Amino acid sequence: MIDALSKAVFGTLAGSAALKGVASRYGMRGRGGFARRFVAGETIDEAIGAARAVEAQGLSQTLDLLGESVASEAEAVAATEAYLAMMPRIAEAGIGRNISIKLTQLGLDLSPELAGTHLRRILSHGAELGFFVRIDMENSPYVEATLALFEAVWRDGLTNVGVVLQSALKRSEADLERVLALGARVRLVKGAYKEPAAVAWQSKAEVDGAYVRMLDRLLRAGHFPAIATHDPEMIAETKRLAAAAGVPAGAFEFQMLYGVRRDLQAALRAEGFGMRVYIPYGREWFPYFMRRLGERPANVGFVLKSLLRER
Ligand code: FDA
Repeated sequence: MIDALSKAVFGTLAGSAALKGVASRYGMRGRGGFARRFVAGETIDEAIGAARAVEAQGLSQTLDLLGESVASEAEAVAATEAYLAMMPRIAEAGIGRNISIKLTQLGLDLSPELAGTHLRRILSHGAELGFFVRIDMENSPYVEATLALFEAVWRDGLTNVGVVLQSALKRSEADLERVLALGARVRLVKGAYKEPAAVAWQSKAEVDGAYVRMLDRLLRAGHFPAIATHDPEMIAETKRLAAAAGVPAGAFEFQMLYGVRRDLQAALRAEGFGMRVYIPYGREWFPYFMRRLGERPANVGFVLKSLLRER
């Protein structure tokens, strides 16, 4: 209940232009800017620096250029060009070649054809350079269009791509069968968005229950699934189910967000599990940052403290 309420409150605040203005002024200022806890910086150089630090700990990473829900074709083209320019930079830096993207950043709100054209360009260029591209899953109105585009590019032979499924959505268990039928990779998450009861489980117990069912199916039938969660119970279930099904640690990986449960990231790595850290960067960090606060309102405390230090 508190989960749903805080997601709703922070979701509403994420749309506030005034708050965005204040946050943008202080969030990334200096090394102590409060948004730096969850966002690597605003430039590709800062993101590469963060990725190097993550890899130095024996973890792997995926880089996400923040931005979503673009409203014009020019912005969608700019985001696509930015991704196309980012990949050679990552390759030159010698860090892992793995990126995450959002289809509304590529123009899905304007038209699926436009987003599809941009996605194909990114996947083709990515394939030449040896990149794996993960399509993040956005809120429920975009799920069908995202899966349909994903299936279309996969059938066209662009298979250096994976998708995300959210256990909070009632449709996701059926969607999982769709993706498994392709033989594609899934990142399993609980879901970051406040969704209505018509389409989504509302209690933590229901969301967790669906997560464990999907996890079990993925460990047995998936293709290198990514178990993306910070929840110690879901992590314990993963270890238990993998052991019961005889699935070795190398057949899946855990994933966590940059700046969240760094202790657990290191502990799982030390136990011999793969751990990939999702590293977001870019100027459009505000909605992403607000979703992280909504998941754990206790994080608001550190934001206030660093704001008071700034003034
Ligand atoms: P849950 O929210 O139940 O939290 C369990 C525990 O984890 C908490 O008690 C706390 O200890 C810790 N925790 C969780 N969030 C925290 C935070 N912000 N700060 C500090 N501690 C925290 N969602 C989506 O809709 N589409 C997507 O594409 C993705 N992609 C994605 C990639 C990766 C690598 C991760 C890890 C997550 C996503 N998500 C996502 C977000 C996901 O849906 C979900 O919102 C968060 O992971 C929080 O859910 P948990 O599974 O961690 O559990």
